[in-house]
Amino acid sequence: MLRRLHHEQPENFAFTPANQAWAEAQMTKYPEGRQASAIIPLLWRAQEQEGWLSRPAIEHISDMLGLAYIRGLEVATFYFMFQLQPVGSIAHIQICGTTTCMICGAEDLVGLCKERIAPNPHELSADGKFSWEEVECLGACANAPMAQIGKDYYEDLTRDKLIALLDDLSAGKVPVPGPQNGRYASEPLSGLTSLTGHDSGKTQYNASAQLAVDIGDSVKRIDGTEVPLLTPWLKGANADKKPAAAKKTKAAAKPATSKRAVGESSDKHSETPGEAPKAKAKAKPKTGSVAPAPAKADAATAAGKKPRTMKAPRKAGADDLKMIKGVGPKLEGLLNTMGYFHYDQIAKWDAQAVAWVDENLEGFKGRVSRDNWVEQAVKLAAGEETEFSTRASKGNIYKD
Ligand code: FES
Repeated sequence: MLRRLHHEQPENFAFTPANQAWAEAQMTKYPEGRQASAIIPLLWRAQEQEGWLSRPAIEHISDMLGLAYIRGLEVATFYFMFQLQPVGSIAHIQICGTTTCMICGAEDLVGLCKERIAPNPHELSADGKFSWEEVECLGACANAPMAQIGKDYYEDLTRDKLIALLDDLSAGKVPVPGPQNGRYASEPLSGLTSLTGHDSGKTQYNASAQLAVDIGDSVKRIDGTEVPLLTPWLKGANADKKPAAAKKTKAAAKPATSKRAVGESSDKHSETPGEAPKAKAKAKPKTGSVAPAPAKADAATAAGKKPRTMKAPRKAGADDLKMIKGVGPKLEGLLNTMGYFHYDQIAKWDAQAVAWVDENLEGFKGRVSRDNWVEQAVKLAAGEETEFSTRASKGNIYKD
């Protein structure tokens, strides 16, 4: 199939300030002169923001990375995950039409899309809410037939189930991804026949569906403020080097407007802190740009400062630190051993304290900032609930 740019293009493109900050932060992951390697995540973020990739978006990103436009176009037109035409304002439905799904009923799903959405793939529905296409195997063959809707997989579909999903989406709901026939994951429909005693740590939905529910951005356009931004790879002695090869962008970068300062937050879409590639260079913010955390602040956080500890919990007993997302029984034990028992202790951690604890959580480095413990602890210390603590108190929690 020919993949060409859409015949109608917008005048221009700009990342939202928070997405611009995110994009510039991604560029600092790569060695000097290799910023072009950031092209796929940047194109993807542009698509997450707009729903599709326009020519101005591809050119904007090529400019950021110091690439000739044709290089950006080559990547955008090569990968099917990039949509080169406007998609439905609510969702773009990608029906897997490869062998397993086809045998299990994908044709019915495609037929439904033709009836309900538009006769041809990549056409918008009359109300502009949906578009669809048939794609190649999405790797969920054990749950055939399936569709990718937004970022998530909806599996074990039937025509009726897809109708229900479209109805829900039309009504502004986001159905829970994963198997739609009652299966947890890809176990036999009649239930497990082995490994039946390993339920501990099981979340309400399977891991990817649970993550989708937790993040909640399945079919949402991303403006960059949905998940906090973390730049753990910038910590260290060389973290003040300016990202190389980044040409001045056409759209002037503005200060980030995300609720948290860039550099003190986390990004669920990025690598796990501690596993992130270590940058040889420390990123120095461009003048007037939203480059990750000021060099001075980075140096301070890199050093870190151990927050105050307690020898034992207060008389009323230790708080249940597992109410903090990212803290399981093992981490809670480790924190207690280190002298941290209460929400209000964690709520007081400043950037240096967070950096110190992040560095010293043996086996769990980076968890504090990745899961934003301080923000959660502030609420819990004030007697409020968080989305996670509400769920955790019902027993539907992650374990580490
Ligand atoms: S054949 Fe459809 S997911 Fe593999």
